[in-house]
Amino acid sequence: MRGAETVVLGIESSCDETAAALVTGDRRILAQRIASQEAAHAPYGGVVPEIAARAHAEKLAPLIEAVLSDAGMTLADCDAVAATAGPGLIGGVMVGLVTAKALAMASDKPLIAINHLEGHALSPRLADPELEFPYALLLVSGGHCQVLRVEGVGRYTRLATTIDDALGEAFDKTAKILGLGYPGGPAVEKLALEGDPRAVPLPRPLLSSEEPHFSFAGLKSAVLRASESGKHRPADIAASFQQAAIDCIEDRLARALEKMDEVTALVVAGGVAANRQVRQSLEALAASRGLRFVAPPLELCTDNAAMIAWAGIERLQQGASDPLDIAARPRWPLDPAAEPVRGAGYKA
Ligand code: KG4
Ligand code: ZN
Repeated sequence: MRGAETVVLGIESSCDETAAALVTGDRRILAQRIASQEAAHAPYGGVVPEIAARAHAEKLAPLIEAVLSDAGMTLADCDAVAATAGPGLIGGVMVGLVTAKALAMASDKPLIAINHLEGHALSPRLADPELEFPYALLLVSGGHCQVLRVEGVGRYTRLATTIDDALGEAFDKTAKILGLGYPGGPAVEKLALEGDPRAVPLPRPLLSSEEPHFSFAGLKSAVLRASESGKHRPADIAASFQQAAIDCIEDRLARALEKMDEVTALVVAGGVAANRQVRQSLEALAASRGLRFVAPPLELCTDNAAMIAWAGIERLQQGASDPLDIAARPRWPLDPAAEPVRGAGYKA
């Protein structure tokens, strides 16, 4: 361990972005590249796991070569190799993890298996050196919608989760209903700018309920009915959906904060954290509670390898490394002690 001089190679391949990055102990991103598979999945309206795994297998090695070359480094200059080991689409995760194992073995460097959700959860600390534990985290991505108290590296208490769809999933389904294609979140956000957020009456599932959990399935069905009625402009549906989703987040998050022990800041991470309206509403919520608000820059919100390399740095600083026979995990909750939540489905 070389403190600020430490360099970790990070690898991300859990969904539809193949990514590699080199990050230092003093938070410098020396190089990072992302190969998006958007075009390969677009005709299917969502991520096809088999296509994703094959694309990772083709793209990853050249991408790693490219980031090393961008930084003018070789593997010998790195202190460890960190890769997402789950949760995610298992074929892709295996490609990244096995690649990391091979590199770690060949270069005699430690392997660090990263929980992708921990990558998102710690990404705000890569962006903001002043962010101290414990902080309240809203983690909103394509597969997850959770409120956690982040107590330290590897130490999470989950206060809320979704009982059905994740927030990113709701954005993606709304995009599909409105014919905006894939990926949906950014397209819905853009179209919503031209619409009236009060034009279409939509439900706010679980609003004011005692437990701070989320639900978006009913909202999605209401979006479908509004669209099929033919009575509304797509821009009004997009704006009204986004407003309903934001109202739910504000209400549920406020409830979770009431139940949470003291924190230093309110933090948002994950792909939906790239949404400007969501960020604005959370900033206001934080201000009303006298909390500092921290959101990573947009490029660190959606899937990337810099956050995986950074989580590797944080774990390395704790003396962690993983054995070469560590398994890829399709499911890997941040708080394994959290009670499963009764609902339409169970999301870790
Ligand atoms: O974290 P992420 O890149 O991948 C997962 O780990 O799931 O999150 C992707 C999700 C997708 O559902 C995408 O539609 C959503 O984040 N997303 C957005 C925006 N950018 C990405 N949702 C709303 N507004 C955005 N600007
Ligand atoms: Zn993610």
